[in-house]
Amino acid sequence: MRTVLFLAFSLALSGSAALAQTPLQEDRALPAGIQGQNITDVKPEIKRDASSEPGYMQQNNGQRNAVQPGNNSPMWRGVAAGAEGTSTLPAEQAPEAGVLIQRQVQYPTVRYTTAGEAWRQVRNSRLIPYGGALLVLVLGAIAIFHLTKGPIGKHQAEEGGQRIERFTPFERSAHWANAAAFCVLAVSGLVMAFGRFLLMPLLGGPIFGALTYALKTLHNLAGPVFAVSLAVVFFTFLRHNWPQRGDLKWLLQGGGMVGRSTGHEPPSHRFNAGEKLVFWGGVTLLGAVVVASGMVMDKLLPGVSYDRGTMQVAHMVHNAATVLMMCVFAGHIYIGTIGMRGAYTAMRRGWVGDAWAREHHAYWYQDIRAGNVPAQRSGQGDPGVGLPATGVPTGNR
Ligand code: HEM
Repeated sequence: MRTVLFLAFSLALSGSAALAQTPLQEDRALPAGIQGQNITDVKPEIKRDASSEPGYMQQNNGQRNAVQPGNNSPMWRGVAAGAEGTSTLPAEQAPEAGVLIQRQVQYPTVRYTTAGEAWRQVRNSRLIPYGGALLVLVLGAIAIFHLTKGPIGKHQAEEGGQRIERFTPFERSAHWANAAAFCVLAVSGLVMAFGRFLLMPLLGGPIFGALTYALKTLHNLAGPVFAVSLAVVFFTFLRHNWPQRGDLKWLLQGGGMVGRSTGHEPPSHRFNAGEKLVFWGGVTLLGAVVVASGMVMDKLLPGVSYDRGTMQVAHMVHNAATVLMMCVFAGHIYIGTIGMRGAYTAMRRGWVGDAWAREHHAYWYQDIRAGNVPAQRSGQGDPGVGLPATGVPTGNR
C-alpha cells in the first residue's frame, strides 16, 4: 500500500513540473512585455509606413529612432555629408576631429564624391597607372635611344692637349650630395607608390611592410637634406643657366641629335640649352613643387593647417611632380653616366680636355681661349692626367 501511495505521489509531483514547462496557449497571455524570447526574434515595433510619413527624410536621429528604433541613417547621412560633430580633442591638435567623413569634392578627372574617396580614386586610378606608364615609357625611350644611337660625342674628358676645370670641388660636392639625396628619395618613393603592386607579391606582406616602413622613414629624413642641397645647387649653377647666344639654335637642332645636324653638336656656352631646360624645369620648377608639397606632408611648414584635405592635395601634387621630376632626371642621369662620353668624368673629377670642351661647349671654350673665363677656378689642380690648365692664369672665379 505504502509503495502504491509513494508511487502515486511522485507521479503527481513530476506531472505538475511537466505542466509548468508546457507553453500556455497564446490567448492565455503572459503579463505585458516580452519575457523568455530569443533576442534575435525581437523586432522593434516598426510602424510599417513610417517612411511614408511627411518629413521622414528631414527627421533627425532622435525623431527617426522614435518611429524606427535603431535606424541611425539621419546621423550617417549627416556624417557622409561632412557634418561636424562634437569632439573633446583640442582643435589645434586635431583640427577636424569632429568630422568623420570629409565633405564631397570634385578632384580632377574623378567623380564628385567625399574627399577621402576622391583622393583614393585619383591615386589608384590616375596617378599610379598613368605615372607608372609614363616612367616606363621614358625609360623605354632612353633604352631605345641608347641602343640605336649609342653614346653622344667622340672625345673622352681626358682627351686633348690642355686641361680645363669644368666643376670646382664645391660644385661637385653640392651636386653629388643632391644627387644622392634624390636617388634615395626616388627609390623609397617608388617603393611606397608602386611596391604594393610589384614588390609585395614577391616579398610577402610582413617583409614588404617592414621594408616600406624603413624606406618611408628614410624618405622623411632624406627630404629635408634634398631641400637644402637643391637650394645650394640652384644658387651654385644659377648664373650659368640664363639664356645666351646659340641656345635657341641648339634647341631647334635638338642638340645635334635631330635633322641634318646629326652628329655635330651646335655651339653652346658652359651649359647648353638642354641643361638649362633641366635647370629651370627640373631643378627649379619641379624641385620647388616637390620640396614644398613634401614639406607639407612632413608637417614641416609653419602656419599650415594639417587637415586631411591639405594632406590629400599635397600628396596628389607631390606624386605628380615627383613622377615628372624622375622622368626629367632619368634623361639627365642617362646623359650624365653612359649617354655622353666624358660627361660623368667632368662631374666626377671636375676637369675636361680642350677637345671635349670644344666638341660640346664651343662658345665656353672660345671664352676660355680668349681669357674671358678662367680655365681653372679653384686652387685644386687636376687630379687626373696632371696636364697644366689651358691658357690664362688661375684664381678669379
Ligand atoms: C645619379 C644622379 C645624377 C648624375 C649621374 C648626374 C650627372 C651629372 C653630370 C655628369 C653633370 C655634368 C654635365 C656637364 O658637364 O655639363 C651634371 C650637371 C648637373 N646636374 Fe646632375 N646628375 C645627377 C643627379 C642630379 C640631380 C638629382 C640634380 C638636381 C635635382 C642634378 C642637377 C645638376 C645640375 C644643376 C648640373 C649643372 C648643369 C646645369 O646647371 O645646367 N643632377 N650632372
